[in-house]
Amino acid sequence: MEKKIRKAILPAGGLGTRFLPATKASPKEMLPIVDKPMIQYAIEEARACGIEEFIIITGKYKRAIEDHFDSAFELEENLKRTGKKRLLEEISRLNHLNFAYIRQKAAIGLGHAIHCAKPFVKDEPFAVLLSDDIIDPDTVLLQHMINLYKEFNSPILALQQVPIPDINKYGVIEGIREKGNVYRINNLVEKPRLTDAPSDMAIIGRYILTPDIFEILEGIGPGKGGEIQLTDALCGLLKKRPIYGYLFTGKRYDAGDKIGYLKATIDLSLKNSQVSEQLKKYIIEVAARLKN
Ligand code: UTP
Repeated sequence: MEKKIRKAILPAGGLGTRFLPATKASPKEMLPIVDKPMIQYAIEEARACGIEEFIIITGKYKRAIEDHFDSAFELEENLKRTGKKRLLEEISRLNHLNFAYIRQKAAIGLGHAIHCAKPFVKDEPFAVLLSDDIIDPDTVLLQHMINLYKEFNSPILALQQVPIPDINKYGVIEGIREKGNVYRINNLVEKPRLTDAPSDMAIIGRYILTPDIFEILEGIGPGKGGEIQLTDALCGLLKKRPIYGYLFTGKRYDAGDKIGYLKATIDLSLKNSQVSEQLKKYIIEVAARLKN
């Protein structure tokens, strides 16, 4: 039976080794892009699609995430007193949302992180957003996926074509086009060798999943890199029900990686009216310097 997507899981239990030393004692998900932490972009994206409950999977050194989405009485009073209305509005805008936090006791993989949310999700379909995958806020990827879930009553994975030299960083699908940008998946491989990749379509950090994934996650052992891989569980699920992929052609940044993070910072700053003009001038200046 088709059900409304009301809950989102945001796994944030990873170690963030690509961003060391910045992530030694503070969460990668709290790294700011312009003036907001990465995870807030994902929360706002899910909220815009009608998600009501946010389940954040945390870990060691991740307390700052809970503090960020808590109300901040002293700061709010100060902003009220000093008449900083816009900032007050900005920091209290998400105060009314429902957050639940679950601590993943060891960072042993994305599949394991998602399984930690089982008691909160119960028997509903749900969205998963990896907050270090920043999706251009002017696009509507997650809403498309929710609509496809309603149409197919099946899990939906976001896909993107990636250059073959990068394919070994991703879960990769093999599939048949169902219609438009929608593919029916018939195989998934986690981080294939460049020569073994079944296609150039990689799974990116947005999923609509069904609760039957939990039982499969319980039964799988460590996969690539010794981690409990979500891709392996999806392979198991594929034996029981159809899974579809939606090929996203808009802008996405792998902000868990330094270069992706810098690109996201530049592009999103160029969309921010407070800094865009000055940044544009600076980019032109830098480009001229690099040419000489
Ligand atoms: P990544 O593959 O980016 O791993 O995880 P990572 O540990 O965060 O970063 P690197 O690769 O060491 O630099 C993708 C998402 O899955 C979460 C991460 O927090 C990130 O949002 N994750 C990963 C968990 O929640 N738990 C895990 O055990 C692993």
